Amino acid sequence: MESISIITLVNKNNPLDSEYIPSNMRLLDLKYAENDKYMVIEAALNFEKLCRDASLEGNQIIAVSTYRSYEYQKKLFDYYVKTRGYKYASKCSAKPGYSEHQTGLAVDVMGSNGDYNLFEKAKEFNWMRENAHKYGFILRYPKGKEKITGYKYEPWHYRYVGNKLALELYEKDITLEEYYSIDQNQIK
Ligand code: DAL
Ligand code: ZN
Repeated sequence: MESISIITLVNKNNPLDSEYIPSNMRLLDLKYAENDKYMVIEAALNFEKLCRDASLEGNQIIAVSTYRSYEYQKKLFDYYVKTRGYKYASKCSAKPGYSEHQTGLAVDVMGSNGDYNLFEKAKEFNWMRENAHKYGFILRYPKGKEKITGYKYEPWHYRYVGNKLALELYEKDITLEEYYSIDQNQIK
């Protein structure tokens, strides 16, 4: 079984084994999750801290998707292909084995407007832009970086990379791909 660290790059060029399941996950506090959601312990702890601090300033941040198995990601991707076509699917959903959600380090969030798709319009989005990195999370698929990440802008998807790297990426305003200097042309 391969080993994954908090800074491992998972993208269209760097898949996980289909059998990979993080061994160190736990349930998120239900105060900060739509229903039972699992994350790697360190990421869970920091996500809960983030949600708690955000709530002290009147924000309501809720996890709507965290760990997803290879099989579940396959169902999701197939669903997008069936309903929206392959081209669209490949820009908004990772193929099974290629999703950060399989690492247990990614989280899709919803704010007080109650729809993760509209997260950019929620006041919580601004809070996340200013504060997520302090808890080790990065906005993983930013606007304007679609050619680099290989995915459409996703204001709701955050990836735990730890405080040190999150701060560096935030200050330099770069993606994980740019940090690892991946050739843009490799991203399909
Ligand atoms: N929506 C992201 C890219 C995923 O499916 O992992
Ligand atoms: Zn996501």
